[in-house]
Amino acid sequence: MPRTCNVVVLLSGTGSNLQALLDSSQAPGNPAQISAVVSNRADAYGLQRAEAAGVPTAVLSHTDYDGRDAFDAALISAIDGYSPDLVVLAGFMRILTPGFVRHYQGRLLNIHPSLLPQYKGLHTHRRVLEAGDAEHGCTVHFVTEELDGGPLVVQAVVPVDSGDTPDTLAHRVHAQEHQIYPLAVRWFAEGRLTLAGSGQVHLDGQPLPATGHVIRH
Ligand code: GRF
Repeated sequence: MPRTCNVVVLLSGTGSNLQALLDSSQAPGNPAQISAVVSNRADAYGLQRAEAAGVPTAVLSHTDYDGRDAFDAALISAIDGYSPDLVVLAGFMRILTPGFVRHYQGRLLNIHPSLLPQYKGLHTHRRVLEAGDAEHGCTVHFVTEELDGGPLVVQAVVPVDSGDTPDTLAHRVHAQEHQIYPLAVRWFAEGRLTLAGSGQVHLDGQPLPATGHVIRH
């Protein structure tokens, strides 16, 4: 029986990725267990999902702190109170300070709704359609100080259909997020996924390509 991997999830909104992680943590033999959910917004629906699953929650409003450094210091102390092995950003709509990122180096994951390194930032679905791209997708990556810029772990690629709108595309990509985030978290929890000091991601001891592991649909 592998040892439990304590996961703290940070979110600001709906928390459908949190739900996927909660569901997958029930799978037989999955060592990833969500030990707490932390939000910067008291009205985030993800908090209700956590409570329904019996997972402790904490709310830290950035508006109560004088600047990013003070907020991130309080955030670190709240998170570390749960002794996490892994911290997962699941729609946490805050830019994190370099000090925060360094503190969780190699144990901080994010998911982004694009095929990184393309389309960092917001409104990815609309931007993909405006560019006329044939493919879109989502990416799980280790977090570094560059926004949406860390080493890639896994990508899911979906086709863009001629009739797609930003909403239909978002829906298709979101469904893939709910597959690849639990997959990456489980890999980490099982000790299969690591980030070397050089920035190289390894899966099962083998270096992953710069794209991470790619799943095509
Ligand atoms: C997802 O699209 C994720 O890629 C981005 O934030 C969104 C969170 O969605 N980082 P949800 O709250 O998990 O539904």
